[in-house]
Amino acid sequence: MGALLPLRLFVGFTFLYAGLDKLALDPTFLDLTSRTSILAQLQGYAHASPLAPLISTLAVPNAWLVGLLIALAEIAVGLGVLTGLAFRVAAVGGAALSALFFLTASWNVHPYYYGQDLPYALGFVTLAAAGHGDRYVVGPWLERQLAPRTPAGRRASATPPLSAERRLLLQAGVVALGALVLGVVARPLRDVLLPLGPAGRAGSPGSSAGTISTGGASSAAPASGAGGSGAAAGVAPGSSDPLAIGTTAEVAQAGAFEFQVPTAIGNAAPGDPGIVVALGSGKYAAFDAVCTHAGCTVGWDPGAGLLICPCHGAAFDPRNNAQPVAGPATVPLAELPIAISPAGVITLRA
Ligand code: FES
Repeated sequence: MGALLPLRLFVGFTFLYAGLDKLALDPTFLDLTSRTSILAQLQGYAHASPLAPLISTLAVPNAWLVGLLIALAEIAVGLGVLTGLAFRVAAVGGAALSALFFLTASWNVHPYYYGQDLPYALGFVTLAAAGHGDRYVVGPWLERQLAPRTPAGRRASATPPLSAERRLLLQAGVVALGALVLGVVARPLRDVLLPLGPAGRAGSPGSSAGTISTGGASSAAPASGAGGSGAAAGVAPGSSDPLAIGTTAEVAQAGAFEFQVPTAIGNAAPGDPGIVVALGSGKYAAFDAVCTHAGCTVGWDPGAGLLICPCHGAAFDPRNNAQPVAGPATVPLAELPIAISPAGVITLRA
C-alpha cells in the first residue's frame, strides 16, 4: 500500500476539498438563483447526459438537497480515504461518485481522456481493490480510545477485539459523523474565510463548479459578464412577431442580450436560452446559449469579449462563429440566423 500512498492522499484530499469548497467557499453552489448553482448545472446535464430522464425528474426538483448530499458524500469519501476508516466503503463510494460525475459533467468531453472524472473513478477502484494494508490508518487508535476503562481510568487490558462487522459499522459511523460536523461548521467557516479569499471569490458567478464534477469543482472560469448582458427577453418591445428577440439598441447598451428561443431553429430547441452579441461595426450574431460541453448556459464576458460557460470554463468566440477557444468544449455554439430591420429590431429566422 505504500506505493499507493500518493494516490490515496491525492484523491482523498481532493474529494475532501471539493466537498468543503461547495459548502464553505463557493457562495453560489447552493444558491439556486445563481447561474452556477447546482440547479443550473443539473439543468445543463439534463440536456446532454445519458441520465437525463433521472436528472429531470428526480435531481432537478430536489437540486438543493442533491447538492448538499453530493458535498457531504465527497467530504465523507475524503475523510474515509485519508484516515483509513471504512476505507474500502469510502473508496467504492468515491468510484461511484466519480462515475456519476463522468456520466453527467464529463459525458460530452471529447476525446474522453480530457475528462477528469474517469481517472478519479479508476483511482478509487484501485484503492478499493488494494485496501490500505493497515498503513497510515487511525482505526486502531480509535478503538483504543473507545475501549472500556477501569474505575481508575485505565484501559481494560483484556478487551475482546471487535468483530469485522462492528468495526466497519463503528468506522463508517465516525466518518459519517465527521462529514456531518464538517458540513455544519462549513457555513460559519465560510463567513470567516470568504472575506480573506481572493478578490471576487465571494459572489463571483463562476467561482465554483461545482460542478458536480470533483475535478472541475473549483476550476470554472467566471462568467463575469453574465450581469453585463441584458435581461432575458422573448419578444422585442413594440413587435408582435414572436421571432423578434430584441433591438440593436438594447444589445449595444449591454454588449449582449439574452432571450429564450421561441421555436426549433436548427439545433436549438424551443425554450433554450439564446444570446445575441454586438460584434462591432454594426454587426450582430445570435447563438443558442446552451454550452456544447455539458449543457450549462453560457454568459457574455464583456472584458474578454467571449461567451463563457460558468460550469467548467469553456469559452467561445462570437466573432469566429462561436468556436471554442478554451475549456473542455470542442464544438461551437449553434448559431441562430437573424435579420435586422431598418428600425433595429432583431428577428430570428426559423
Ligand atoms: S458545461 Fe462544461 S464547460 Fe460548459
